[in-house]
Order: sequence, then structure tokens, then C-alpha cells
Amino acid sequence: MSELVFELRRIRTGDSVDVFTCGDPGTDRFLRYHALPAQTPRGLTSTWVALATGTRTAPVVAGFLTTSTASLDRARFPDAALMRRLPGYPLPVLRVSRLGVANGFQRRGLGAALLRHAETLAALVAAPGGVVVAGLVVDAPTSGMAFLEKRGFARLGGRILEGALHGGPAPYFRALPASAPAAKA
Ligand SMILES: CC(C)(COP(=O)(O)OP(=O)(O)OC[C@H]1O[C@@H](n2cnc3c(N)ncnc32)[C@H](O)[C@@H]1OP(=O)(O)O)[C@@H](O)C(=O)NCCC(=O)NCCS
Repeated sequence: MSELVFELRRIRTGDSVDVFTCGDPGTDRFLRYHALPAQTPRGLTSTWVALATGTRTAPVVAGFLTTSTASLDRARFPDAALMRRLPGYPLPVLRVSRLGVANGFQRRGLGAALLRHAETLAALVAAPGGVVVAGLVVDAPTSGMAFLEKRGFARLGGRILEGALHGGPAPYFRALPASAPAAKA
């Protein structure tokens, strides 16, 4: 299989979102109709597209992720040891509200690479002097659960995060390495 090269950048008008299909209709619809409007200067999300540029055709959107900020109450952290180290107020997390890889590009490491990009973004926010980000929360439809569990994410209790609908995606969490602030004794 020929090696694919991806360019990762924020979504722009004209990107080939109309033909994107990843197997989860809600994820496809979001990319086609909502990702760009939601990223207006006053919007609250950022969508990053991975464009396959190693092909002879014009670049196609091979995958994407949408990020925003959210907060998580300590009581909902799935890791008891981590929970003990955390202060008792809601902690900022980076939320990946949408993540998708187009059918023709799945199982080639792109989904994992997009998650690493989310971690890099969180680390930038948490750079010395910045805001502490405790980890990543990913909203997962059923089709994404096994993928996240394989990558060390734990399911959070309940479904309620800002913007989550009843019966909608379930939130999963993974701490950032050494990101958790120590609770005061
Ligand atoms: C879930 C999804 C993003 C995975 O993307 P991908 O590019 O195929 O994933 P990768 O190739 O990076 O796979 C990374 C690892 O997860 C595993 N994996 C990928 N999809 C999997 C699945 N459905 N079930 C179990 N494991 C899976 C791979 O085998 C790989 O394991 P390895 O690191 O041991 O080799 C993609 O299948 C998708 O877009 N699905 C539909 C939309 C969706 O569910 N979005 C929510 C994502 S949380």
C-alpha cells in the first residue's frame, strides 16, 4: 500500500466535506453541515482536518476532529488514584466532541494520530504558566468505543456533558501524562 501523507490544519471553506463518510452518520453530518459554521470567530469549537495529499487527485479530507473546552467534576474521574490527587472543584479538560476517519483511510493509524494531535493541543494550553488541563474527554458513538478503550480511555459515568443529548455519544476520559495538579493537603 502506498504511503499516504497527511496535512493537518483547521477546516476551510472549499474542503471536500460533502463526500466524507466514516460509518457514523452523526459524525458525517456534523462535518458536512456544522463544523465550519461552528468555527466562526465567535464559535466555540475548532475542527482540524487531515488532508490526504500523497495521492494524484486533489487533497481529500481523510479524517477530522473537533475540539472545545469543557470541565469535569472530580467525582466523575474514573481513576481513583488520580481522583485523590485532584482538587475538589471542576477541572478543565479538552473535549473532542467529534472524531472521524473516512472509510477508505481507516485502520491505518490516522484515528490514533488525530488523538495525539488533541493531546498536543491540550499540552499547549497547559504549557508553563498556562491553564492546567487534566485530560481529554472524547464523546464516543458506539462505533468508537472499542477504539478508545484500546487506547486507554475509560468510560465516564452518566452521559451529561454540555451539549450532550439523551441517547447520544458516551463520554470517555484519559488523563494527560503528569498533568494533574496535586491537591492541597
Ligand atoms: C473509530 C475511528 C476514529 C478509528 O480510526 P482509525 O484511523 O481506523 O483508527 P487507527 O487506525 O488509528 O487505530 C488505532 C488502533 O485502534 C484499533 N481500532 C481502530 N478501530 C477499531 C475498532 N472499531 N474496534 C477496535 N479497535 C479498533 C486499531 O486496530 C489500532 O490498534 P493498534 O494501535 O493496536 O494497531 C474510525 O473507525 C471512525 O471514524 N469510526 C466512525 C466514527 C466514530 O466512531 N467516531 C468516534 C471515534 S471515538
